[in-house]
Amino acid sequence: MDGNGRWASKRFLPRIAGHKKGVDALRRCVKTCGQRGVGVLTVFAFSSENWNRPADEVSGLMDLFAMALVREVPQLQADGVQLHFVGERSGLSQKVAHGIEQAELATASNSRLILNICFNYGGRWDIIQAASKLAAQGRSITERAMNEVMALAHVADPDLVIRTGAEQRISNFLLWQTAYSEFHFSDKLWPEFDEEALDFAIADFSRRERRFGKTSDQVGGQPDNAIRI
Ligand code: FPP
Repeated sequence: MDGNGRWASKRFLPRIAGHKKGVDALRRCVKTCGQRGVGVLTVFAFSSENWNRPADEVSGLMDLFAMALVREVPQLQADGVQLHFVGERSGLSQKVAHGIEQAELATASNSRLILNICFNYGGRWDIIQAASKLAAQGRSITERAMNEVMALAHVADPDLVIRTGAEQRISNFLLWQTAYSEFHFSDKLWPEFDEEALDFAIADFSRRERRFGKTSDQVGGQPDNAIRI
């Protein structure tokens, strides 16, 4: 969800105003995904590296997050959204950790859309925690075993990764899970990422031929499945 800070700076507003707009954009995106039959949406809300931002931005983001958790859950509940928080939970404030627990519990039986919120997350952290878990269990480190213990083990790998804000990097997002994902780069800043932009990304994705290492002849005519973004 890149571009909140720039959206705010362009309007001579504090960066946190951009993050607030970012929550509005996320709400809109979740709604549209539900309407378009997207089965899984995973968003990057706070990275392991975001702790290095100025202290007032970090505390502003934590407050916003704790507030949004309480405020948004009833609507997510009504829309059949199942929430998962993906990331390192130790080091989070009591308020945020409690909000996360409550939100997951309240939405656990929903099934229309799975919304994964990556928070205090890093792709390298995820690989290390998974490998450490296997080592502690005395298991061999195989691809299948890793898939079972990665932080997103409850969903299949993403089909499409959308990066907004004209950036073209992976920035320690789903390093393991995006091995065969399609990428779409949008110039829109996240607060401006609307229904039209999402539809444009999905249309772009639907034109891609996914070969997973095979030849074009081998994969021709395979039906599309529900999209995971
Ligand atoms: C990146 O844009 C955005 C973030 C680090 C924060 C995103 C968080 C939210 C939208 C709030 C999420 C809330 C919930 C409840 C999930 P940036 O600040 O790096 O933008 P810039 O590239 O313009 O500086």
